[in-house]
Amino acid sequence: MKTKKTLLILGFFFIFSVIYLFGGNDNITLEQIVVTPELKKEFPIKSHHDSLSLECIHCHDGQGNNPREFETPGDKGCLSCHKNKEYLANRLVFMDDLHANPHNSIHDGPNLFCDECHNEHKPSINMCAECHEHDIKIWMKETP
Ligand code: HEC
Ligand code: HEC
Ligand code: HEC
Ligand code: HEC
Repeated sequence: MKTKKTLLILGFFFIFSVIYLFGGNDNITLEQIVVTPELKKEFPIKSHHDSLSLECIHCHDGQGNNPREFETPGDKGCLSCHKNKEYLANRLVFMDDLHANPHNSIHDGPNLFCDECHNEHKPSINMCAECHEHDIKIWMKETP
């Protein structure tokens, strides 16, 4: 009678272990993002971010495991670290005197999208230059 009970308990133990292992397997089989040297070369990260050892996932969070299918992260990918647009505008508030704070412009206030000026894997392009090609060199530095 006692052995039967022990076997029963062992049996349950076995079944739960199997469930646990298979359940756990879901995570193990998940494809991890492998950043090969070629991939790093194809999608270089700006030096100010590279020096902080930023990973793809910091900007492309929730975009799956295939780096080639990553999409433009948009503001969300930047503001996860850079807080919010008002905060950024305040950091360059000394530029307001000339109305040349790129994060708080006289036309759009702090409402522009980051990627209207900042790129990550290619040189940035300041959208103000579309109309103020000569002025912006006086107003502000090159877009990092
Ligand atoms: C994982 C956190 C993180 C993410 C995500 C991130 N950054 Fe940064 N970034 C930093 C830190 C930390 C610095 C250095 C300190 C600072 O200037 O705030 C920095 C610096 C910068 C700088 C300043 C360079 C300079 O010369 O002073 C720019 C521009 C910048 N980031 C733009 C962006 C943009 C645009 C995005 C979205 C595509 C982005 N960052 C996403 C953390 C992040
Ligand atoms: C209109 C173009 C423009 C837009 C839009 C823009 N930036 Fe900038 N950003 C610049 C320029 C130009 C500088 C350099 C200013 C200077 O130092 O003269 C800069 C500087 C920075 C810096 C470094 C200065 C600081 O405050 O620490 C960070 C960080 C940054 N931008 C992040 C962002 C993020 C995040 C967004 C989106 C919310 C954004 N920027 C939107 C043009 C832009
Ligand atoms: C600091 C933020 C940041 C990091 C870190 C980052 N990206 Fe990006 N990624 C961007 C932004 C912003 C864009 C939009 C295009 C651009 O600015 O170059 C982008 C676009 C892309 C695209 C779409 C390209 C296109 O033209 O449609 C791919 C693919 C991509 N990134 C791959 C990667 C890989 C792989 C890594 C890691 C090695 C990585 N990214 C790391 C911000 C980032
Ligand atoms: C689509 C064209 C266009 C874009 C893009 C644009 N502006 Fe303007 N901006 C104008 C026009 C038109 C005027 C009014 C005429 C003038 O004074 O040059 C003006 C006026 C200004 C003025 C006041 C006049 C002066 O010269 O002192 C400032 C400052 C300014 N813009 C800053 C910016 C900044 C910063 C950006 C980027 C965030 C920007 N502009 C983007 C068209 C544009």
